[in-house]
Amino acid sequence: MKTSVFIATSLDGYIARNDGAIDWLNAANEMAPPDEDCGYAAFMSTIDVIIMGRNTFELVLSFGGWHYGDKRLIVLSRKPYAIPVHMPKTVTASSESPAALLQRLSAEGAIHAYVDGGLTIQSFLQAGLVTDITITLIPVILGEGKPLFGPVAADVHLRSISSHRYDFGFVQIKYAVVSPFR
Ligand SMILES: NC(=O)c1ccc[n+]([C@@H]2O[C@H](COP(=O)([O-])OP(=O)(O)OC[C@H]3O[C@@H](n4cnc5c(N)ncnc54)[C@H](OP(=O)(O)O)[C@@H]3O)[C@@H](O)[C@H]2O)c1
Repeated sequence: MKTSVFIATSLDGYIARNDGAIDWLNAANEMAPPDEDCGYAAFMSTIDVIIMGRNTFELVLSFGGWHYGDKRLIVLSRKPYAIPVHMPKTVTASSESPAALLQRLSAEGAIHAYVDGGLTIQSFLQAGLVTDITITLIPVILGEGKPLFGPVAADVHLRSISSHRYDFGFVQIKYAVVSPFR
């Protein structure tokens, strides 16, 4: 099963401030032309399930509105987690390990998962279960915050697939993971 990461980071590798704020990302998005989504819609059109960490899900909820339509979305938490009742029925919670979850989703016919949230991405990477990573680098250095990457048991080797510099200052880089270390 294909398991992709598609995320924006500061130049120093943070996905959010320590308190979870992404004001810097929202401000940067203002620099982009209104019709430029840096490939997000095209990427989402290939996805049949989103696997999202509980922190990211709660941040999404705090924005109000719902931008995922009836796309299947699984909120990962290690504790029992109640999905708010107003959510579409396609939103469910899971405490399965990354391997068990992907095995189940694959058996259910899923082909391409989008893994979102820093700690969640790290747990999939540690399990050797990320197939490709697209990072949109935002031209800002935050100095501290929530990192995209964390400890790994062994080096994770990547193959560079593409890079693109946008006129308004973003740089998007895409890698395939070539050496899951399991
Ligand atoms: N820059 C961007 O493009 C971007 C994209 C997405 C998110 N963000 C930001 O990132 C922040 C959230 O990232 P984050 O690093 O805090 O974490 P996260 O991955 O969104 O959420 C972490 C939580 O997910 C659950 N979890 C993670 N791995 C799990 C596993 N293997 N099994 C079971 N549960 C698991 C745990 O929930 P429990 O604690 O409930 O057990 C964990 O505390 C938000 O502030 C958001 O703004 C930024």
